[in-house]
Amino acid sequence: MKKINAKELVRAAAQARAGSVSPYSQFKVGAALLTRSGKIIGGANVESASYGLTCCAERVALFKALTDGENQFLALAVVARWDGGPMPCGACRQLLAEYAPAAKIFVADTGDLAAIKRFTVRGLLPGPFLMPPEDSDVPW
Ligand code: THU
Repeated sequence: MKKINAKELVRAAAQARAGSVSPYSQFKVGAALLTRSGKIIGGANVESASYGLTCCAERVALFKALTDGENQFLALAVVARWDGGPMPCGACRQLLAEYAPAAKIFVADTGDLAAIKRFTVRGLLPGPFLMPPEDSDVPW
């Protein structure tokens, strides 16, 4: 299993941020996922003229990874030019709880990439809705 290098992952998220398509908010967000095998998969936010269709950087990275067959995640970094760094929204927390529950979450401001805040998915979303429920015996 690859050792987690938070600084490297935060730098990858900052690089992925360059791909942001954010003509409405001009708020560029980058994310990078680290897989168990050591792969880093980046993503950035994509906005729509129908604002609600916008997809956050975290979910773009997650959807890219999942549809490439990756499903074991050690960590996710998310960065934007925002004091203290951008906290993942509720929708992203839900998807992380489902598909990357064990991932460490690193958050940083692109103005100071060395100041990395660390979270767990469970800490960001206690009591997530899961299908099947965690205490279920159903083998799916
Ligand atoms: N955004 C993200 O990409 N990730 C977050 O964690 C918070 C918000 C994006 C969505 C939208 O394109 C822009 O930031 C402003 O909300």
